[in-house]
Amino acid sequence: MGWPEGPAGPRKYLMLVLGIETTCDETAAAVVERSDDGLGRILSDVVVSQLEQHRDFGGVVPEIAARAHVELVDKVIRRAMETANVEFSQLDAVAAAAGPGLIGGVIVGLTTGKAIALAMGKPLVAVNHLEAHALTARLTNRVEFPYLLLLISGGHTQLVSVEDIGRYTLIGTTVDDALGEAFDKTAKMLGLPYPGGPEVERCAANGDPRRFNLPRPMQGRREPNFSLSGLKTAVRLEAERVSPLTVKTINDLCASFQAAIVDVLTDRVGVALKLLQHGPWRPRALVVAGGVAANNTIRRSLQGVADAMSTLLVIPPPQLCTDNGAMIAWAGAERLARGFSDGLDASPRARWPLGASPIRKTA
Ligand code: KG4
Ligand code: ZN
Repeated sequence: MGWPEGPAGPRKYLMLVLGIETTCDETAAAVVERSDDGLGRILSDVVVSQLEQHRDFGGVVPEIAARAHVELVDKVIRRAMETANVEFSQLDAVAAAAGPGLIGGVIVGLTTGKAIALAMGKPLVAVNHLEAHALTARLTNRVEFPYLLLLISGGHTQLVSVEDIGRYTLIGTTVDDALGEAFDKTAKMLGLPYPGGPEVERCAANGDPRRFNLPRPMQGRREPNFSLSGLKTAVRLEAERVSPLTVKTINDLCASFQAAIVDVLTDRVGVALKLLQHGPWRPRALVVAGGVAANNTIRRSLQGVADAMSTLLVIPPPQLCTDNGAMIAWAGAERLARGFSDGLDASPRARWPLGASPIRKTA
């Protein structure tokens, strides 16, 4: 909607999309505009984290999350619209994450999106949350297809070849725990609070990464999958062996764990880049998304892999790497620009994999 003010010349059509995200423990909404030449701008981005409600339980409790989304979603959407200074009637579409995620929360966000779309006579875009993570780098950095996405969050650990809107190939994934989950479980074993990732990183900064000799699961395998549960078990066994834990031991265990993760990640990403470099979808960039991308040691090591492979590394700013409404709005705009929208019968989905390829067992 709307035409930009400015000097005479070819005018770009601006699309305005509201995005709603409720698949995990963030209630988020945002308004994003996209010009017809693919330039994006975030007009508002409201994220309310439920961290405090879940902290005592050491992880996200689905029932609590769903209830909190019900209480928050209307307010968050209203704030996003007000901050953007946009009326519902001005929207070109309403985008809502339709999965994958905790089904109670997904139902809340998708139903709210459908209600707004129906009441205002606007198209609905039922967005895949993983696709939204995958496309964020096009909003922040105008990255062009194809590229390799490394998605590392509390729920996902995937390497995806992003070839076009709606065209994704799963190159590698975890056969057990997600990377963020491994950080969170390691932290819990060591008595550190939830979420564990930032705590482990903080302790690791003061620790000796060589003190404990931990395994590097899957390192050297031809297919870029991950396995993280064995590493987590190894941390538990070492912690038991050297118990009672001192601050120094906790720091050393965190540093040794993080060093193992860095070795595994750099190896797996290197394999994925090599695999794609000789195929039809040679990546123009390595794009990283998900909460674990906030880890500075991991960021530095990925820069090293990208440099060694002469590949551009793109990591969107931390607030757009974690769950947010802007990525849903943007994915909705990208899909709408290609003529895709969904009916009001779109289903919420707990599971909704990106990419057609099945997991190839490497064990
Ligand atoms: O993407 P995200 O905010 O939420 C989803 O899981 O969807 O990711 C959260 C995950 C948690 O497991 C958290 O421990 C991890 O990201 N994380 C980190 C760091 N900051 C957050 N892991 C390692 N180092 C960090 N600095
Ligand atoms: Zn996510």
